[in-house]
Amino acid sequence: MSFRSPFAIPRHIWNSAAPSAVRPVARSLVGCTSYQRSRFATAVPPVTQDATGSKGPTAMVFLNMGGPSTTDEVEDFLSRLFADGDLIPLGRLQSYLGPLIARRRTPKIQQQYSDIGGGSPIRKWSEYQCKEMCKLLDKMSPETAPHKPYVAFRYAAPLTETMYEQLFADGFGNGKGGRAVAFTQYPQYSCSTTGSSLNELWKWRNRLEGKRANGEADPAGTIQWSVIDRWPSHPGLIEAFAQNIEAQLKTYPAEKRNEVVLLFSAHSLPMSVVNRGDPYPAEVAATVHAVMQRLGFSNPYRLCWQSKVGPKAWLGAQTSDTVQEYVKRGHTDLILVPVAFTSDHIETLYELDLEVMEEANSPGVKRAESLNGNPVFIQALADLALEHMNKGELCSRQLTLRCQGCTSERCLGQKKFFAGKENEALVL
Ligand code: FES
Repeated sequence: MSFRSPFAIPRHIWNSAAPSAVRPVARSLVGCTSYQRSRFATAVPPVTQDATGSKGPTAMVFLNMGGPSTTDEVEDFLSRLFADGDLIPLGRLQSYLGPLIARRRTPKIQQQYSDIGGGSPIRKWSEYQCKEMCKLLDKMSPETAPHKPYVAFRYAAPLTETMYEQLFADGFGNGKGGRAVAFTQYPQYSCSTTGSSLNELWKWRNRLEGKRANGEADPAGTIQWSVIDRWPSHPGLIEAFAQNIEAQLKTYPAEKRNEVVLLFSAHSLPMSVVNRGDPYPAEVAATVHAVMQRLGFSNPYRLCWQSKVGPKAWLGAQTSDTVQEYVKRGHTDLILVPVAFTSDHIETLYELDLEVMEEANSPGVKRAESLNGNPVFIQALADLALEHMNKGELCSRQLTLRCQGCTSERCLGQKKFFAGKENEALVL
């Protein structure tokens, strides 16, 4: 069985609050269980960027969907997930159907998390990756240091509002200014994923330090946000994927190695989202093509899509069907490559490892390692962040263009905000 327990993660990662790995500010928080540690706020010095001439400190905020760290958190996680019309559009009945579906699915999903070791490792990996990236950035860019790591999940702790309160507690915003970079951990942009996280960040920004918070249209001393909104073909990301594939290819006999089929697998989307004009399928294809180019097109390959939910049409072909069909035809050597997530999560540890690979029942069907703690990948994150800060852009030009079929006022407002005063006129 190919199942890899999250407990295989090195101990120092699980114990991410180890004193040597923790910045002085965070060290005082060791032993706490959540971001809600405002009683420690007095120990944190205020933002001093103007006084010192330095551009730092800089808050680096990783955005991702998150996952329940324990089985007890599953129902809340699913409730938030099915309530999000950006991710799973259920129309006018969303607020009624969402909780209903969440409640019905909870026992089954709890069992799945139980089968992968009792919870999702995504929080541990995200916090580790962000802290390690910040350490690199402190060396690479002293003028924007210190870089402070934060994680904001869309459907599980730490939620966006919790992260925002932590920024305040650490001396950002609330009249003190400071810079924060929202760094999506979905390499390929979708309005269902990064778009949803940005909508949420914009919502909480307005509630906590925008006009809704204090009545002022443009209050002084708010956090200055910029966004890294997509990076589907960044060379460091491509290199990390390619190295993981090469490592798995080496486990096949040399004479058969070039015949192994590479099956890139990404989370699927409802066709209603694809047909609205969502950029995700094209960006995932860009990642796949860049990885294959780096590998010199050494092997046959396909891109397929996983994790369809419900009876409606979703983007295919489905990964499970693809594996079964290829194995039936005699392609029994296959490597599954999770290409749209930056760490292990239930779709790799359960769906690919415990369902798809076990159903294939062929020892030649394997999976490339997820990016997790890969140092090439973490260096890529630091390179990306530094390129972003050096460029001085608030977001990519691509973020300013709405989907052809978008009718959402929330998207419009969010994009105008992140485009900034200079570029808000581009958002139509
Ligand atoms: Fe894509 Fe609104 S749905 S920009």
